[in-house]
Amino acid sequence: MTGGLWLFLASPWTPLKMSSFGGWGLLAAFLALFCCPGSVEETFEVHMWPEQLMVASGESALINCSTSCAQPDKGGLETPLHKTLLEQQAQWKLFEVFNVSQDTPVICYFICSREQRSRSANISVFHPPKLVLLKLWPTLVATGGWFTIECRVPAVAPLESLTVTLLRGSEVVYSQTFVGTTRSPQEATVTRNTTARREDGSHNFSCRAEMDLSAHGGGLVHSLSDPQALDVYEPVQDNQLVIVITVVSALLLLFVTSVLLCFVFGQKWHQRRTGTYRVADAWRRLRRAHRAQPA
Ligand SMILES: *[C@@H]1O[C@H](CO)[C@@H](O)[C@H](O)[C@H]1NC(C)=O
Ligand SMILES: *[C@@H]1O[C@H](CO)[C@@H](O)[C@H](O)[C@H]1NC(C)=O
Ligand SMILES: *[C@@H]1O[C@H](CO)[C@@H](O)[C@H](O)[C@H]1NC(C)=O
Ligand SMILES: *[C@@H]1O[C@H](CO)[C@@H](O)[C@H](O)[C@H]1NC(C)=O
Repeated sequence: MTGGLWLFLASPWTPLKMSSFGGWGLLAAFLALFCCPGSVEETFEVHMWPEQLMVASGESALINCSTSCAQPDKGGLETPLHKTLLEQQAQWKLFEVFNVSQDTPVICYFICSREQRSRSANISVFHPPKLVLLKLWPTLVATGGWFTIECRVPAVAPLESLTVTLLRGSEVVYSQTFVGTTRSPQEATVTRNTTARREDGSHNFSCRAEMDLSAHGGGLVHSLSDPQALDVYEPVQDNQLVIVITVVSALLLLFVTSVLLCFVFGQKWHQRRTGTYRVADAWRRLRRAHRAQPA
């Protein structure tokens, strides 16, 4: 896009359209050679800062178009976006573009000694994690009991640059980096089951969503959820166990006692019964003896 071109500025987009036709380039070179020899500055460059533009959806961006040409005739920024010129010097112009809602091309151009050069770039739109929603359930858990941590990050893109981290105080419970190159905003969700610890009641849970755009020429954007507290209670299990053991021991004692009593009484009853037999035997023996005696 930095090839030299003659400018026929019928519309702001003409230079871009022309650049796609090699014929225009040839014609420009031809005209440069034969029409006005020596009038074209040997070399001049056009730069755009930043070179890669990553803009949050709906936000504005600053673009600095600059040139090495000492006295450019004209310069500017071509884009379908709404723009304003904030500041300028002979060799640079600082623009602001507004309301970037989708990937948009931008072109910086300068005309130096009737030669035009330009540099183009694409503004990439990203959808940063604005909202981070954390949910714990249940919120009342016994020590050692299971509970679920769910973190939702609605409308984020690109997903591949997103890392969602579940935090217990400042300790990381779980962290997930997403994949997927879809440019349209999507919801990212991370769910984790974990057990409650005694100390969980004294610190807050939170969720952090981080978007690392360094691979796309951007920075690091992060957002944190509201803290969520977990109510952790000591299970009354210990006391219950004591009660259960006491009751069971008492019942066992009662049972053993009753068995013993039964045995003792049973013995006595048996003795009494055999005692009766003895009396009967004695009687029988007595009668036999009486019968045996001669009359
Ligand atoms: C724009 O870029 C030029 C060249 O890099 C630099 O000299 C100038 O200070 C920049 N302007 C602003 C406002 O950053
Ligand atoms: C940006 O867009 C919003 C609505 O889409 C509009 O109200 C606002 O005026 C726009 N701002 C600029 C500077 O174009
Ligand atoms: C901008 O995007 C268009 C379409 O995706 C692509 O053809 C072009 O090469 C890109 N330009 C730059 C400078 O990355
Ligand atoms: C937990 O968060 C609440 C606000 O929701 C705050 O008042 C409290 O101090 C936090 N506790 C800890 C231990 O950070």
